[in-house]
Formats: sequence, C-alpha cells, structure tokens
Amino acid sequence: MPAQHPFMAKLDAGKHYWCSCGKSGNAPFCDGSHGKDHPGPVEFALETAQEVALCNCGKTQNRPFCDGCHTKS
Ligand code: FES
Repeated sequence: MPAQHPFMAKLDAGKHYWCSCGKSGNAPFCDGSHGKDHPGPVEFALETAQEVALCNCGKTQNRPFCDGCHTKS
C-alpha cells in the first residue's frame, strides 16, 4: 500500500539524492542500495535551507517532490 503522506524534511542548501528504487534503508534518500542495474537516485538542489515535501508513494509526476497524487486512487 502506498504511503498516505509525503515525507517532510528540513534540508540544508545544496545537492540531495531522492531514492527512486524503493530499496534504500535511508528512505527517502538514496543509500546506494539501487545497485548498478538501476538508473539511480533523482538528484535535486536547494538554493537555501528549507522544509520540503518529498514523495513517499512513488507516484508523483514532479519527482522528487510530492504533487498530491497519493490522495488519488
Ligand atoms: S537506493 Fe534507491 S535509488 Fe539509490
């Protein structure tokens, strides 16, 4: 069952890596568990430290950010 809420995180400015494979032990962030056959994480950068809503269900069309689609069936 998909997560019902985004993952809220206060992140520093700079680059971050959102797990797109579902195997990370540090979700929603990539920990390298995707292995060599997976395209890997989605890299994103923040210009300032801020709180973000990261997708926690894998259905967003705005990766890595939540677009609210977890509320739809
Ligand atoms: S562990 Fe999932 S993309 Fe790296």
